[in-house]
This record gives sequence, structure tokens and C-alpha cells, in this order.
Amino acid sequence: MTHSGAEASSPSWVTDRLMEPRLAPSRNGVAPGERELVEILKAATTVPDHGGLKPWRFAVVNDAGHERFGDALVAGLHHERGSDLLDSVVNKMREKAFAAPCCVMVIGSPVSGSNVPEWEQLVSASCTGYAMVLAATFLGFGAIWKSASVLHTPPVRSLFGATDREQLLGWVNIGTPEDVGDRDSRERTDPELGALVTVIDGGGARSLPQ
Ligand SMILES: Cc1cc2nc3c(=O)[nH]c(=O)nc-3n(C[C@H](O)[C@H](O)[C@H](O)COP(=O)(O)O)c2cc1C
Repeated sequence: MTHSGAEASSPSWVTDRLMEPRLAPSRNGVAPGERELVEILKAATTVPDHGGLKPWRFAVVNDAGHERFGDALVAGLHHERGSDLLDSVVNKMREKAFAAPCCVMVIGSPVSGSNVPEWEQLVSASCTGYAMVLAATFLGFGAIWKSASVLHTPPVRSLFGATDREQLLGWVNIGTPEDVGDRDSRERTDPELGALVTVIDGGGARSLPQ
């Protein structure tokens, strides 16, 4: 793959792009249209996938689906913690379903009988969440990956038709971005690679020189 112009002059163009602040979707924003959503979902399928198993699927929550999602989260909460809960606790859980106009649930769906271990398949499925966040961001949407403590409960699994093998890996909230005024959201600083990376070469193991 070749790049032209400014992109060719420095490899940092890619990190510059990835390190731009990502915005959150506005609760009252607009969901991606069908064409944009299709592109976001297509981007999800570009992730590394050992054996081409496509060990994932997605569920898009739109419109009145948010009510059903909220009800399932609350039912999951009661399933976990009983019926005697503060309204504030219940409402906080329900609200998660309404934080954006579009939620895309990421469902790890490992293929059985494959020699690709299940953990690899779940890692692959997990990558789809980030691919969607990036694609939605590059299209100008706010996008953020969310989860809830009750995703493993029967009411939530049932809403998404999860089979015994499948795992709900959280969902990506997508919509027109929240207006953050002149405040930059989530500024990224240069990571200290020396502390994160070990280089193994002929001389043994050492930190990455910076
Ligand atoms: C599987 C998964 C679940 C997440 N769940 C939440 C969540 O429930 N609440 C939250 O504030 N951030 C959650 N995050 C982190 C956000 O997606 C996001 O990375 C974080 O808010 C920082 O924002 P940024 O990625 O735009 O810098 C989750 C991330 C992952 C990978």
C-alpha cells in the first residue's frame, strides 16, 4: 500500500489520526443512516480472523428497541440482585440503553469444531468493537464502547438470542457527537513505550529506545 503527499512524509500520520480525541455520541443525537451503519458494520468485519471463521455477530438497537434493551438490562439487574432495589439503581441501569440513538451489541460467536482455539475467536470478535468505534469516528459520529454488569444474565442474553457458546462483549454507542464546546474530549498523550515494550533480539531482552 502506498501513501502520497503529507502521508508519505512521516509514518506518524497514522498515530496522529488514531490519537485524535474521540467524541461521545449525544443521547439526543441522530443515529447513523442505513448507508453509514452498513459501512460501520463492514468495517467491523475487517478484523484479523484466524481461519476466516467470522466468530462474531452484531445486533443493532434502534428506535423502540432501546425500551426493550432497557427492560432487559433491568430484568438482568433483578435477576442478579433481587427485586428490592433503589429506584436510582434501577434507573441508572435502564438509562444505559438510552445513552445514544444507536447501540450495536458485539456478540462473540465462536465456531465449534475448529482448530482455532475459542480464545482466539473471542479476541477476533473483540477487535470488531474497536473497528466500529474507529469507522464511526472517521465518519464524524461520536462512538464509545460500553458494557454493563448484567450482560451475562438470562434476560439480556435472551434479548440478543445468545446461544450457550456466545458471549455478549459489550456494545458500541453511536450517534451524532455530543457538543463539548471548546473542551477537547479525551486528549491522548504520547505513551511511554519504554515501559510498555520489550524488544527481544540477539542481545536478550531490552526496552525500546525512545
Ligand atoms: C469491552 C469494553 C467495555 C467498556 N465499557 C465501558 C463502560 O461501560 N463505561 C465506560 O465508561 N467505558 C467503557 N469502556 C471504555 C470506553 O469504551 C472508552 O475506551 C473510554 O471511555 C475512553 O474513551 P476513548 O476510547 O474515546 O479514549 C469499555 C471498553 C471496552 C473495551
